[in-house]
Amino acid sequence: MGGAAGLFAVPESTGDLRVLMESLGRDAIPWILIGGGTNVVFSNGGYSGCVVRLGEEFSRVRREEETLVTAGAAAALPRLVTFAGREGLAGLECLAGIPGSVGGAVRMNAGTREGEIGDVVEQVQIFDGREPQWIPGQEMGFSYRRTILPEDRVILAVRLRLRAETGEAVRSRVAQQMERRRTSQPTGVASAGCWFRNPEGDSAGRLIDAAGMKGVRCGGAQVSPVHANFLVNTGGATAADFLALAGKVKETVHERFGISLEEEVRIIHG
Ligand code: EPU
Repeated sequence: MGGAAGLFAVPESTGDLRVLMESLGRDAIPWILIGGGTNVVFSNGGYSGCVVRLGEEFSRVRREEETLVTAGAAAALPRLVTFAGREGLAGLECLAGIPGSVGGAVRMNAGTREGEIGDVVEQVQIFDGREPQWIPGQEMGFSYRRTILPEDRVILAVRLRLRAETGEAVRSRVAQQMERRRTSQPTGVASAGCWFRNPEGDSAGRLIDAAGMKGVRCGGAQVSPVHANFLVNTGGATAADFLALAGKVKETVHERFGISLEEEVRIIHG
């Protein structure tokens, strides 16, 4: 969904990334970094600058010490969760079932009602165009689906402090979490996850549902009949369909409850 990118780059080393950032800077070409692309919507017009996605070289996951795991930003989050289950390391079960990359999850402090990735982040390796640098997790300013990391900093890797447990106990909590998602959220259908942030003390899904919006469509986009905060692609939806549907949802919820919903997904125009 969404239009094309002017350029698409997949750096495979910090050297690559440095050269890329220098040359984009020299030519004044705007760029945007994506993780797994699972929480991002590009408008129909696409993006005229350069979309950057870290390559395979940034996807290594390894256990450094008893309870310390280092994961590259490009590693898939579900792979990290599985790794921890296999190693008998607890602390990531709350993230089971969330797609995307480790870097994207850290940037947006991905999580559920059970916990967030920021809870276990000890250090983050950041690239500012010059040298990679490890910073303490606290400097990320983790809050509900947010960090304070400036947009032009690239997360290269993360060190996670987990807790040693039996693999069986960890895997059973992962399975429970997956089951809960399977029954309360749409599966097997394309979506960008929860579209809106939960307003303080309430749930966007509950509000959209109470406003009678479940199943409402704009073109190929639909408010999921399973969980109302998921806007799903029933086939052939365009980004414009999604934006129109999101607009309709916001308007209706505002009329009914006087609450202004805010996007959790990142919408990229131009
Ligand atoms: N509800 C409805 N109708 C709906 C959906 C929900 O009445 O269509 C009610 C539920 O019955 C429940 C309440 O609303 O009483 C809260 O629902 P739920 O437990 O599903 O949690 P949520 O607040 O809607 C949040 C996160 C999800 C995360 C779940 C589970 C946000 C915006 N959403 O959803 O995260 O998976 O908790 O932990 O923070 C995401 O961020 O992309 C995401 C999906």
